[in-house]
Amino acid sequence: MKGLILSGGHGARLRPITYSQQKQLIPIANKPILFYCIEDLINAGIHDIAIVVGPNKEQVIDTVRSAQWDAAIEFVHQDAPRGLAHAVKIAEKFLEDEKFIMYLGDNLLKGGITGFVNDFIDADVESSLLLTRVENPHQYGVALVDEQKKVIVKLMEKPRNPPSNLSIVGIYGLTPSIFEAIERIKPSWRGELEITDALHWLIEKGYSIRYDLVEGWWKDTGKPEDLLEANRLILDGICSENKGCIENSRINGRIVIGDNTVIEEHSTIAGPAIIGDNCTISSAYVGPFTSIGNNCRIIDTEVENSIVLDGSDIVHGGKIIESLIGKEVRIRKNNSLPKGKKLVVGDNSEIEL
Ligand code: G1P
Repeated sequence: MKGLILSGGHGARLRPITYSQQKQLIPIANKPILFYCIEDLINAGIHDIAIVVGPNKEQVIDTVRSAQWDAAIEFVHQDAPRGLAHAVKIAEKFLEDEKFIMYLGDNLLKGGITGFVNDFIDADVESSLLLTRVENPHQYGVALVDEQKKVIVKLMEKPRNPPSNLSIVGIYGLTPSIFEAIERIKPSWRGELEITDALHWLIEKGYSIRYDLVEGWWKDTGKPEDLLEANRLILDGICSENKGCIENSRINGRIVIGDNTVIEEHSTIAGPAIIGDNCTISSAYVGPFTSIGNNCRIIDTEVENSIVLDGSDIVHGGKIIESLIGKEVRIRKNNSLPKGKKLVVGDNSEIEL
């Protein structure tokens, strides 16, 4: 079976980070979200994968090619974010005439997809979806199901009045019938060809769509708070590994420390946390549920429940909590007069002082 991962879109709700970085490449526990999707497909026995790329296609292609994969991976270019169904349509040549799995590259799933994929291989259905109960169904695709027959009877994309609290998770088992369905639907109010509408078209034609419920957690990493939550969930499962050097400092709990990283001068690292390669953590506290990328300096600062990307430099930064800090960011204490906050902040940034 083949796999299709979607890694396009503008990631508008994650600006300013997504001005310079494709959203599926943002690291969670120091690994791009997209890599978790590729690993899930490979672990489910899928070794023939296409990735649909959009605005930052070179960045996605280079990042994927920088790692070794037990899979043949090719790329399909989507000229503009025209919807999930449009992405499937332009990958038709790659997908050919067989069942396939589509995985949204900004979704994270704890338990992997092996069980879901195996059930779909055996099932005599037109499609299979993963669903989960959510508190805010109007923000997702929503399914109404027949629990006895274990089939979906209705699908709606972001409905104002959701008929249930079962949201569509971004992993879809599809068959070539989806291509005809995509031809029949019209763009939605957001101007996109919705995969939810194509699947609903199949239901209306009498085809059968089964579903599984997610076991464990699922996260759609569309917003900064989702990234921090995903970071907490992934770090919760890490195992300790220390390749760095710890001098006069304390380590509590499960910690991953990269090559050439120095923890010094009475620092405390409280796990679960991950610190990348070539970092200096000095007189600092790196608290639980924090990921620090490569080549960072955290000096005389406390960081907790946060993600700090590569190359950032934080000196006398006070206490930083629940923050998403981009690449090569410099944070300093203002030691000159007049006292006050001095800011050079990108468009669409958010600051709570
Ligand atoms: C997309 C789908 C939606 C699904 C969601 C899961 O939404 O359209 O049906 O529930 O992914 O992540 P989007 O992220 O495009 O708003």
